Amino acid sequence: MKPLIEVKNITIEFFLKNGNLKACDNVSFTIYKNEVVGIIGESGSGKSTLAAGILNLVQSPGKITSGEVYYYDDNDNKINLLDLNVNEFNEYRWMEIATVFQAAQNALNPVLKIKEHFVETVLAHNPDMSMEKIINKAEEVLKFVRLDTNVLEYYPHQLSGGMKQRVLIALSLILDPKVILLDEPTTALDVITQWYILDLLKDIHKRLGVTLIFLTHDISVISGIINRIAVMYAGELVEYGDVTEVFRDPSHPYTKGLLNAIPTLNDDITKRKAIPGNPPNLTQDFKVCKFSPRCSIFLEGNCEADREKTKVMYKINDEKCTRCYTLAERLEIVGKEGA
Ligand SMILES: Nc1ncnc2c1ncn2[C@@H]1O[C@H](COP(=O)(O)OP(=O)(O)O)[C@@H](O)[C@H]1O
Ligand SMILES: [Mg+2]
Repeated sequence: MKPLIEVKNITIEFFLKNGNLKACDNVSFTIYKNEVVGIIGESGSGKSTLAAGILNLVQSPGKITSGEVYYYDDNDNKINLLDLNVNEFNEYRWMEIATVFQAAQNALNPVLKIKEHFVETVLAHNPDMSMEKIINKAEEVLKFVRLDTNVLEYYPHQLSGGMKQRVLIALSLILDPKVILLDEPTTALDVITQWYILDLLKDIHKRLGVTLIFLTHDISVISGIINRIAVMYAGELVEYGDVTEVFRDPSHPYTKGLLNAIPTLNDDITKRKAIPGNPPNLTQDFKVCKFSPRCSIFLEGNCEADREKTKVMYKINDEKCTRCYTLAERLEIVGKEGA
């Protein structure tokens, strides 16, 4: 597998009146070409901030305080995205890395027809493209999201939530990006529409080979589409690996808790247990493992929650890494990862 985006030790802080809030804490993660990855975590765990970091779109009072984001182009040239100026980065946004943002349905301009959204997006990056070519391309990508091409003449308010989301996915495809970052792409939608959108994304991935990165709090929605999963807690990745392997045998207590909380159609819902407690305040200077106040291993006295030991990830096998050193010690650790 060839790397496409390599996030290295990225830390993103918000400088607030009551202290510095570390929304991403030394996150390192590689996304490979043509894969489908899910980054999962409770609301507030830092997923959207990480996405903003990858796109160098972190806004004040936030700041990337350390780390690098590398992008590997078609010729495998390695580019540090955070070193680029705004104009240089804009060449990568949309053309290479497209995004469908959280609450994206409000991203459509109510006074512009759908057609004009496509035209504006293309012309911003490709001013010489003819109108005929743009419309042809728009029609092509609308077919990918199974929308009739007559929506080009509609205004956003004439579309349902699911249709708007499909327009935005089509819009993200218009410049043939290598990767699409989707932040909570199905959260505001009903279950049937969620399923439909994931199904068409699966189809798009199969046909175009575009890399997909999903960020979501809802592990059950995306479990059927992702190849790899990364689990985020309180600004840190706590586990990542092959999705089948992680689901079969999670190696971090937080992942276990998340999987335990998913209801299935034919089980007894009273047996499903939410993870006790709440996510921590991220302005504190953590002295112990961030998850320990909610962790059964710690609460049962079987771990000393050594913060230092949770500052690296432990490789369990080729498929899986964890931040939980106690579970890692119980297994045979293959090696330590960088961060
Ligand atoms: N603009 C901002 N100003 C202050 N704090 C923020 C801002 N954006 C995000 N945060 C904080 O950063 C943390 C991570 O938030 P976010 O990245 O939105 O998480 P997620 O996408 O996983 O729900 C949260 O504690 C949130 O309150
Ligand atoms: Mg978010």
